[in-house]
Amino acid sequence: MVGSRGMGDDGVALVELAGVSKTYGGVRAVRSVDFTVWAGEVHALLGENGAGKSTLMKVLSGEVAAEEGAIRIGGVPARFARPADAQRAGVAMIHQELDLVPALSVAENVFLGREPHTRYGVLDRKRMVRTTKALLEQSGVDLDATAPVERLRTGEQQLVTIAKALSLNAQILIMDEPTSALSPVKSSDCSQ
Ligand SMILES: Nc1ncnc2c1ncn2[C@@H]1O[C@H](COP(=O)(O)OP(=O)(O)OP(=O)(O)O)[C@@H](O)[C@H]1O
Ligand SMILES: [Mg+2]
Repeated sequence: MVGSRGMGDDGVALVELAGVSKTYGGVRAVRSVDFTVWAGEVHALLGENGAGKSTLMKVLSGEVAAEEGAIRIGGVPARFARPADAQRAGVAMIHQELDLVPALSVAENVFLGREPHTRYGVLDRKRMVRTTKALLEQSGVDLDATAPVERLRTGEQQLVTIAKALSLNAQILIMDEPTSALSPVKSSDCSQ
């Protein structure tokens, strides 16, 4: 797979994977993959079940360590030992199985693990809700920031994970099988 060419801001590819391989036991999940993404591009990775799509994306998002190959982000060699390393480099991954906490609100999920506190050390719920509302608005998503995510449809939950990824200032957003989120407008809302 090779990304089609379009120039980034500075003529350097945003992402370059070169010769990436990953084996699970005896199963060769990914074999010598080269993949280039330029700023502003959207890529779709196609392949049958078990072809290695998720594994390749997990290598890019720091969840799986490749045995061979190199990653460059903005031309700079990167070594991701864990997802937090990839996040710091601007890579966000939205999983096939959504990693949201059902009983928590949209805002609490967006800020999970990095909750803001007031200067008195108390959880700053107002700020979480205010920031989440702004994020949702910016993404054109009409959802209640205070609603528990378990009340949302799967597609809406996926939009929450996208808002969360954007709040991390992701430069590279990976969505694993995101089709369920691609119909934010209900058919009854469509006018002829
Ligand atoms: N954690 C794991 N341990 C062992 N084998 C794995 C693991 N993850 C994936 N595999 C194997 O690696 C291969 C590639 O799997 P992967 O999930 O990357 O494929 P995929 O293209 O995402 O498939 P799907 O379309 O079903 O999501 C498969 O043969 C799978 O069984
Ligand atoms: Mg997969």
